[in-house]
Amino acid sequence: MYISRVFLGITGASGVIYGVKVLELLKKAGVEVHLSISKTAERVMRLETDYDVEEVKSLADYVWDEHDMTAPPASGSYPIDAVAIVPCSTKTLAAIANGITLNLITRAAEVGLKERRRVVLVIRESPLSLVHIRNMELATMAGAIVMPAAPGFYTRPKTLEELVTTFAGRVLDALGVKHSFTPRWRQAQ
Ligand SMILES: Cc1cc2nc3c(=O)[nH]c(=O)nc-3n(C[C@H](O)[C@H](O)[C@H](O)COP(=O)(O)O)c2cc1C
Repeated sequence: MYISRVFLGITGASGVIYGVKVLELLKKAGVEVHLSISKTAERVMRLETDYDVEEVKSLADYVWDEHDMTAPPASGSYPIDAVAIVPCSTKTLAAIANGITLNLITRAAEVGLKERRRVVLVIRESPLSLVHIRNMELATMAGAIVMPAAPGFYTRPKTLEELVTTFAGRVLDALGVKHSFTPRWRQAQ
């Protein structure tokens, strides 16, 4: 399946840098991005990165307020190919796993699951309680791809940028977006 339109939610877990990198790579890959950033994610972005929230938003094709339930991605009739929530807070995970529509981000994920589209949840929490583990199980059983924000080191990243880009590339893989932005294991050997 060719992925041409993605809904990207950025929520208030640590690691919003992953969400920004996924946005950058999706745009480089020519994918149309519908972006929604939760209020807490905006706060975390200011706390843990040097990104300007408005500049990040300007990278997307469409930006939706997290509370705008009239936005197109709130409807299954709108042709979104895949949904990514990067990072996904445990609060947003809990809402998605239990079918509670808190906002547009949880609604977009709910729609993705019911329409049997790819839904990738990049959870960032450690250590995990049984509540988190059960919610990840529920989300997985409903069809989501739960992807802990746990980057690999086998590509020997030299910088934070390399580490984050390699992980973001794996998120694109999970979404079904073809790309060659990141190294592959033993590809060059
Ligand atoms: C600096 C900071 C870091 C946080 N890190 C995490 C985290 O790694 N994982 C998580 O699940 N929540 C984390 N939180 C808590 C969430 O922001 C909080 O649960 C919030 O209600 C999530 O809302 P949202 O999912 O609508 O963005 C953090 C909060 C702050 C202020």
